[in-house]
Amino acid sequence: MTEGWNVAVVGATGAVGREMLQILQERSFPVASLRAMASPRSAGKTLPFGDTEVEVEALSGADFDGVDIALFSAGSSVSEAHAPRAAKHGATVIDNTSAFRMDDDVPLVVPEVNAHVLDDVDTDGGSIIANPNCSTIQMVVALAPLQQKWGLERVVVSTYQSASGAGQAGVDQLVAELRDWAERGGGADDRPDRGGDAFEHPLAFDALPWIGSTDDSGFSTEELKMVHETRKIMEAPSLSVASHCVRVPAVRSHSESLTVDLQQPVDVDGAQRAFARAPGLRVHDSPADNEYPTSRLAEGNNETWVGRIRRDLENPETLHFWVVSDNLRKGAAWNSIQIAEQLFT
Ligand SMILES: NC(=O)c1ccc[n+]([C@@H]2O[C@H](COP(=O)([O-])OP(=O)(O)OC[C@H]3O[C@@H](n4cnc5c(N)ncnc54)[C@H](OP(=O)(O)O)[C@@H]3O)[C@@H](O)[C@H]2O)c1
Repeated sequence: MTEGWNVAVVGATGAVGREMLQILQERSFPVASLRAMASPRSAGKTLPFGDTEVEVEALSGADFDGVDIALFSAGSSVSEAHAPRAAKHGATVIDNTSAFRMDDDVPLVVPEVNAHVLDDVDTDGGSIIANPNCSTIQMVVALAPLQQKWGLERVVVSTYQSASGAGQAGVDQLVAELRDWAERGGGADDRPDRGGDAFEHPLAFDALPWIGSTDDSGFSTEELKMVHETRKIMEAPSLSVASHCVRVPAVRSHSESLTVDLQQPVDVDGAQRAFARAPGLRVHDSPADNEYPTSRLAEGNNETWVGRIRRDLENPETLHFWVVSDNLRKGAAWNSIQIAEQLFT
């Protein structure tokens, strides 16, 4: 028998699940056996895993006996129905959905920020650990060094989130819109005029200031996740956070514009140094040379990129900057596998 851990990826055929399979390989994670699970639609399909292929099982009929680590990424309702079952059968569940994130007894983890909460996790099985929302993850990675050095007073963030944040269906809709547009002539008057499976409105050539559903507050669920998850991860229950989430026609990587009020005056050089020293962060900040983080720069790597760092013109305690990260990697698959590495390697 191969040494290592028995791993199950639930949602293995999805945008995040496929990335998980790739990262397990890239990191040479000690996998003794791998099971790929998805909906009954995908049962019997095969997925590449290194030099081999793994056959997809329908989650509904799958047991979790012998599974050490279950990486869940198939939507909240699927996690609610099946993650407790996996934990009961002895797996440690790392859940990428919103199902358990705000539960008091479930750690919500970004290893660069609050890895210490994993110290109490029993790796003999039965635990559920939550992976935060993609937009929250990259933001807290950038906020952590500011919190440590200057203290946080208020965070205002606007996101520019890619199509793949809505899964494979999001990418498919954007690509279909662009293909149709090209086939219809590719001119300014030929733009798509109808939404699709993933977005109510056409995403190509537009920006949609609405992600998720809402409650009476008027904020979207995506915006509220950024508020509540940030407070939990940063152990700052009264931190003031205002968020506006926008979908843009990038394929991969989310970008964020941040304005942060600190508790003390900040200077740009000091902020750059603090960002550069922080784990998981890369500074890319020379606008005069056209060097600033873009979606393409972040795509396919595990870093969170920061640039356009500037102090407010009036308030010396306020910093403005731009943060970009690959939502399928640091925002989802890589953060989950970092947690698994922390616990099991
Ligand atoms: N995309 C991101 O940037 C991102 C970031 C952070 C968190 N997340 C979360 O990660 C989860 C997956 O997102 P994604 O972007 O990978 O979505 P996706 O591309 O739509 O993939 C969804 C996956 O879930 C599986 N699935 C759907 N219904 C199922 C069922 N009833 N039983 C078993 N499997 C089922 C699908 O299987 P089939 O192929 O068989 O349909 C597919 O493998 C979501 O909860 C999402 O909120 C996504």
